[in-house]
Amino acid sequence: MLINNNTILPDTDKALRAKCEPVSLPLSDDDRAVLESMINYVRDSHDEEKRKTLGLRAAVGIAAPQVGVLKQMVAISIEGNEKVPPVEYALVNPKIISNSVQLAYLEYGESCLSVVPDREGYVPRYARITVKGYDMLTDKEVTLRLRNYPAIVFQHEIDHLSGILYYDHINKEDPFKELPPDSISIG
Ligand code: CO
Repeated sequence: MLINNNTILPDTDKALRAKCEPVSLPLSDDDRAVLESMINYVRDSHDEEKRKTLGLRAAVGIAAPQVGVLKQMVAISIEGNEKVPPVEYALVNPKIISNSVQLAYLEYGESCLSVVPDREGYVPRYARITVKGYDMLTDKEVTLRLRNYPAIVFQHEIDHLSGILYYDHINKEDPFKELPPDSISIG
């Protein structure tokens, strides 16, 4: 499946508001092909040259409804640095099974391949979550304990599977309304 900035659906498309179906396992060849194209998009999007030649936008994740497939699949690839290891999963039927009370949010707000231009405001997320699902990259059922930035990315992508967009969480009257004082701000 070809995925680039011309084929990714905008938030005005009803696919972005759909409730996605669980995927049967083992993965069918069709589902595998879609999820492979999704993880490849995100990986390639980290490379400036590839962004130019393939027509991609820098991203850390993508969900199947954004490419018109109403199934519970997300692909996430977050580059590492000296301090944190990379995080990369191609998850089928991901589910958040527990979360912290404490919240976290991105200081400069979130963005989404389907939302152009960006919508400003704080998006409150759980600071820590536990996610269960099947990971295509390792061919394993996984239980992931995530915190801070990766936790935010997973919540954003998993929201897509219920037709929820990041700006749905932004306070309508006051987009930069302060979150509880113990919330973690991520710059
Ligand atoms: Co998104």
